[in-house]
Amino acid sequence: DWTMNAYREEAIEKIRATVGDSHVICGLSGGVDSSVAAALIHEAVGDQLTCVFVDHGLLRKNEAEEVVTMFRDNMNLKVIYADERELFLGELEGQSDPETKRKIIGRLFIDVFQKYANQIEGAKFLAQGTLYPDVIESVSFSGGPSVTIKSHHNVGGLPEKMGLKLVEPLRELFKDEVRVLGRELGLPPSFIGRHPFPGPGLAIRCPGEITRAKLDILREADAVYIDQIRKHGLYDEIWQAFVAILPVRTVGVMGDGRTYDFACALRAVTSVDGMTADYYPFSHDFLGETATRIINEVPGINRVTYDITSKPPGTIEWE
Ligand code: XMP
Repeated sequence: DWTMNAYREEAIEKIRATVGDSHVICGLSGGVDSSVAAALIHEAVGDQLTCVFVDHGLLRKNEAEEVVTMFRDNMNLKVIYADERELFLGELEGQSDPETKRKIIGRLFIDVFQKYANQIEGAKFLAQGTLYPDVIESVSFSGGPSVTIKSHHNVGGLPEKMGLKLVEPLRELFKDEVRVLGRELGLPPSFIGRHPFPGPGLAIRCPGEITRAKLDILREADAVYIDQIRKHGLYDEIWQAFVAILPVRTVGVMGDGRTYDFACALRAVTSVDGMTADYYPFSHDFLGETATRIINEVPGINRVTYDITSKPPGTIEWE
């Protein structure tokens, strides 16, 4: 892609000019955005980049291992695995308000980065995979008063005390452009094609209070759902698909017994840039088969619903 190649060259020059011989740290989330940002910066400044992969305990099944392996082994990036599960889950305990949850996660991310940045000699820059829609959506509706819909923790000025400057080489790009750039940079197609995953992770797919037990159930249900979508060849037709575990238990009957377990909601949407979205029209056969699999394979869930809300008026995530 000629245009993207030009963009890439220009971005690399800009990164080099900005960074000089300082060190950059990059928060790797496993999402496409931060992955492409890391690959681009790595191409620009090589070993002056150290990635920090924070495990906040809100990742999907096997995610931490897959991401760390892929960047360390396949791409030769310096990656620090930061196991901060106890810190995040501890601070989130008892919190049920969506914005409070986001703010706690955002604050801890900054604390954790500061901790790792302090250990890296000459670290002066923090790289982030902020995209254009993140920038505009978290600022305001044009024409109206400034209204924040959701405070994305990975957008906005970092506290002065952190002493790091931001490098955001994807700020002008939309998601589809980021994927093209990622391919140019040699990231594996399977990685580029991954659905977006939000910084606060499973926290915003677990409406209300987060517990470790609920997160474990959610991880299993989500893995079955994504497996179903892949098996039916639908993964690439969908912008984003995930399970949300609902803060309600319902009565069911399995075998000879009564169950009283969590209900979950399946979400799948099509979208161009995440700013508007339509729910995906799965066949009834697909939905029925998936519900049966989740209930049979995931202890703790006895009811499956499908979310048919588009955006607007809904948002893609449940919080
Ligand atoms: P919503 O739920 O606002 O999501 O319709 C739009 C897109 O943004 C992702 N998202 C987030 N990403 N931090 C992120 O990095 C966040 O706090 C956040 N909230 C939503 C969401 O997954 C979707 O792709």
